[in-house]
Amino acid sequence: MARPVIIDCDPGADDAIALFLAFAFPDQLNVLGITTVAGNVPLALTQTNARKICELTGQQTVPVFAGCSRSLLRPLITAEEVHGKTGLDGIDLPSLIMLLQTEHAVPFLIQRLLSSSEPITLATLGPLTNLAVALIQQPTIARQIQEVVVMGGAVTQGNITPSAEFNLYVDPHAAHVVLSAGLPLTLVTLDVTHQAIATPERMQAIAAINNIVSRAAIGLLKHYGEYDMKRYGTAGAFLHDPCVIAYLLRPELFTTQSTYVEVELTSELTLGRTVVDLWQSTPHPSNAKLVVTIDAEGFFQLLVQALSAY
Ligand code: RIB
Ligand code: CA
Repeated sequence: MARPVIIDCDPGADDAIALFLAFAFPDQLNVLGITTVAGNVPLALTQTNARKICELTGQQTVPVFAGCSRSLLRPLITAEEVHGKTGLDGIDLPSLIMLLQTEHAVPFLIQRLLSSSEPITLATLGPLTNLAVALIQQPTIARQIQEVVVMGGAVTQGNITPSAEFNLYVDPHAAHVVLSAGLPLTLVTLDVTHQAIATPERMQAIAAINNIVSRAAIGLLKHYGEYDMKRYGTAGAFLHDPCVIAYLLRPELFTTQSTYVEVELTSELTLGRTVVDLWQSTPHPSNAKLVVTIDAEGFFQLLVQALSAY
């Protein structure tokens, strides 16, 4: 029986590849809907990009909802503004025919969770604003959530500041609401996603597939990889968001440890930093499963298998 999942995202090149991965195994993941949020680029672009990705992958029946256009308390900061990283423009995606749902992402999240006969998994690939607003508006949704797998945070170095990861930096207050809601959380941080690098050999394996989706993936990884290679000196792009979907599909590719995580909300210097208690040095009980290792080769074999399915 396929696992019901709602994917919250801010496409975003790596979000796009995460969606390619999620749609490739319908017998394992039943994507009930896509909710979009401002993050990599403003909401108008993230919701358009999500709809284009659904069209490209033949998923026109998957409803796409636009959510929050800014963070709970802070003015919107997009990756595009900070890094000049664009959304998906310049990437050969279909023209838009898919309708955007009239309902806002937050009421959709609340209604879909409360009306479900079975718990639903949430995969969050961007700032946590939509989920935080849904939890504030209707806390009872928590009992309908199977698991929330979050791409966000860092045990060590940040990427948007020396101490903070982008998704949690954009909306640290939303991250605090989610981290303190008592949800079954699994956190995929930069410490893991920085091991998922689209090296030239892996790019060749993807290029050899040569179908419309794999060609879009190559275009995205080239476009996105230029930035990561220049900034980090890596051999290719980091595949942050696809790690969340891979965890849902093949959890055996990862290891986890129970931990307590908080997010910095006051210091300008470390705003959005995740403070991760790896060795029980605080009195707090665990509030998250931290993903600590990834089988990067196995992850890319899964990605090649997924892209070959189109
Ligand atoms: O820090 C990486 C995260 O920020 C990814 O989700 C990427 O898409 C951006 O949203
Ligand atoms: Ca993202």
